[in-house]
Amino acid sequence: MSLWIVVALAVLNGVTGDPDVTVSPEADTADMLAHPNSVPEYAEEEAEIFGQEEQLLDVEAEEDVMATGELNPNHYPAQRAAKVVQHYLNTRYGSPFRLFGLHRVHSGNAEDVADSGRMYQLEISAQEIISNTTEKCSAEVLFPRGERQGSAQVQASCEELLKSNITAPEEALYQQYKNNQSLLSAQNLPDSHGHIEPDMRPFWHLGIVASSVVMLNESTENTLYNMAQVANITQLATENDQLKFDSHILLHEMVSQEIIHWKLLFTWSPPEGVKVLQMEQLRHCHDCETPLNTS
Ligand SMILES: *[C@@H]1O[C@H](CO)[C@@H](O)[C@H](O)[C@H]1NC(C)=O
Ligand SMILES: *[C@@H]1O[C@H](CO)[C@@H](O)[C@H](O)[C@H]1NC(C)=O
Ligand SMILES: *[C@@H]1O[C@H](CO)[C@@H](O)[C@H](O)[C@H]1NC(C)=O
Ligand SMILES: *[C@@H]1O[C@H](CO)[C@@H](O)[C@H](O)[C@H]1NC(C)=O
Ligand SMILES: *[C@@H]1O[C@H](CO)[C@@H](O)[C@H](O)[C@H]1NC(C)=O
Repeated sequence: MSLWIVVALAVLNGVTGDPDVTVSPEADTADMLAHPNSVPEYAEEEAEIFGQEEQLLDVEAEEDVMATGELNPNHYPAQRAAKVVQHYLNTRYGSPFRLFGLHRVHSGNAEDVADSGRMYQLEISAQEIISNTTEKCSAEVLFPRGERQGSAQVQASCEELLKSNITAPEEALYQQYKNNQSLLSAQNLPDSHGHIEPDMRPFWHLGIVASSVVMLNESTENTLYNMAQVANITQLATENDQLKFDSHILLHEMVSQEIIHWKLLFTWSPPEGVKVLQMEQLRHCHDCETPLNTS
């Protein structure tokens, strides 16, 4: 188990135990930095992703009644819906060299839509993490209800974020692993110190993009998913010009505070992007049960 997940959980436990307490991101970071042994070595972009988790601690704990009308941008309903937009952007436009994070929620509104569910209208700032560009986006998230069970439906417009030209690094990565005699195999991205070897970083990013397909599909109004770790990723023989990967990934569902294991089979190529072929939640993961209460 990554130490940094344990740290995040410990911090969360402290916060959600008392609904009146809100913790600012700064205070949290300072608190974590006060424990040198538990501070992982984040690469900048990973720190950005992790930073969002801390930001999301600024919430109220109990919400039995779904908020309707204008939402507090810092509270769970708006943050959860905005997180789904992040997963959507990664699903649509993510790459080993392009990843989206949620920078801020500016405003949000939620309404019941007769028979079909609840519609969130959001103004957010999304961040393209690798080029470190931030842009305002307008988004709508519909969580289906009743008869129309299914995944959230998302629309978002923020075209500026797609301007970075990642053709060259994508093509180089593709050629390197398409033509290599030995197939890639990697574990623990990031490792227990939060570290990722530079040449493995594209595969952490690929894992995030593939996981976004799961997180988008699994998200409801009551969830908040983050990618925690690529436990392992194994390259399979290339088929139809697609690099193919078998992976075991850990998601962090922050409302239930569960670490959820998924097995994903996916492909990637620059023109086709990431396509998840199979996804399976591992419910009885005996080998990979990790003690979370050892901190
Ligand atoms: C990203 O950009 C912002 C402002 O544009 C800057 O303050 C910040 O330091 C940058 N972050 C990184 C990791 O370069
Ligand atoms: C991106 O860069 C490649 C060369 O690396 C160039 O051929 C291509 O036209 C560029 N695409 C855009 C949209 O600028
Ligand atoms: C082939 O893959 C191995 C292991 O992933 C890596 O160390 C090596 O640099 C790769 N070779 C080329 C030519 O990319
Ligand atoms: C998405 O989730 C639904 C359940 O909400 C499930 O039935 C469906 O198979 C999932 N999609 C994929 C591609 O697994
Ligand atoms: C991948 O990681 C999981 C979780 O740590 C572990 O249970 C599984 O055996 C690993 N698989 C391989 C092929 O290394």
